[in-house]
Amino acid sequence: MASVMLSGAESLKPIRAIAPSGIGSAGSDFPKRFSSQKGLVCYTRNPRTRTIAPKCSLSSSRPVSQPRFIQHKQEAFWFYRFLSIVYDHIINPGHWTEDMRDEALEPADLYDRKMTVVDVGGGTGFTTLGIVKHVDAKNVTILDQSPHQLAKAKEKEPLKECRIIEGDAEDLPFPTDYADRYISAGSIEYWPDPQRGIREAYRVLKIGGKACIIGPVYPTFWLSRFFADLWMLFPKEEEYIEWFRKAGFKNVQIKRIGPKWYRGVRRHGLIMGCSVTGEKPFTGDSPLQLGPKVEDVKKPVNKFVFLSRLILGAIAGAYFVLIPIYMWLKDKIVPKGWPI
Ligand SMILES: C[S@@+](CC[C@H](N)C(=O)[O-])C[C@H]1O[C@@H](n2cnc3c(N)ncnc32)[C@H](O)[C@@H]1O
Repeated sequence: MASVMLSGAESLKPIRAIAPSGIGSAGSDFPKRFSSQKGLVCYTRNPRTRTIAPKCSLSSSRPVSQPRFIQHKQEAFWFYRFLSIVYDHIINPGHWTEDMRDEALEPADLYDRKMTVVDVGGGTGFTTLGIVKHVDAKNVTILDQSPHQLAKAKEKEPLKECRIIEGDAEDLPFPTDYADRYISAGSIEYWPDPQRGIREAYRVLKIGGKACIIGPVYPTFWLSRFFADLWMLFPKEEEYIEWFRKAGFKNVQIKRIGPKWYRGVRRHGLIMGCSVTGEKPFTGDSPLQLGPKVEDVKKPVNKFVFLSRLILGAIAGAYFVLIPIYMWLKDKIVPKGWPI
């Protein structure tokens, strides 16, 4: 497993751009020239820092607000009604391996078994299994809007002592200043309002607490982009950083992750392509004020529109099941090693 780090670059000096290769590659979309500006992102390899400028889009741009077929709570709910049956055994191995999980959780800095941790969108508990290696299960809460996913988590022996609850990532049932760590893996892409979810992450953390959100990266290749846009939210790296900063987080960092056989995380995108962390600098609520939540999982829907969206979204999602299989076969036939 390989990874590279990006960070929100409050403290970074400008800038000599170096186009990365391999998993960190921005491919043809990587700009050739940059200028020094506020709001840099930083690119590092093996902690020697290389920096790139803010306007550099590490992936192509598209509005966050554009419609996607599975980025509503009920669609996600029904999607996981069926996916939960095969999630751990068929879906995960293609894009979310144990190695990747451990790499992705490393910036969350789970150094004390007594830490209070919430795993939001915790699903079947695959990521929680990585968390309880470092933290006592009795201090960990798994929250998800899908009872079907949570039922799988309840069956797992190492998670027996975890608190397992149904809830909404955009409206967490925890008090302000509650947890030492907020973890969420592979869930942000289904949140209709990701900024609201990240604001909640900030609120529920104690001062000095860290949020770690693991999520997809937006592809640069046109066909992959087409299916990504149909399916769900594939944020750009700059968007993650922006959401974290707006919520009030400091020391925002992005670590790029991916399965070792997968070539072109930035080109084709990946459902688990980066781990974003930020630290809460003050006690209390987020400085970001938002209006009321717009969506609820129990909101009534037009059944025909809903079903069409669910089917089209699931078809688009299948592309991202096939791509890792293709990458795996390609690596078997033409092994290239890890191109970092
Ligand atoms: C890809 S799974 C990830 C599960 C787990 N974190 C893992 O690493 O395997 C995404 C999970 O997010 C949950 N989810 C989607 N939208 C949610 C929301 N608004 N609130 C809580 N959970 C949500 C889904 O039910 C699903 O279990």
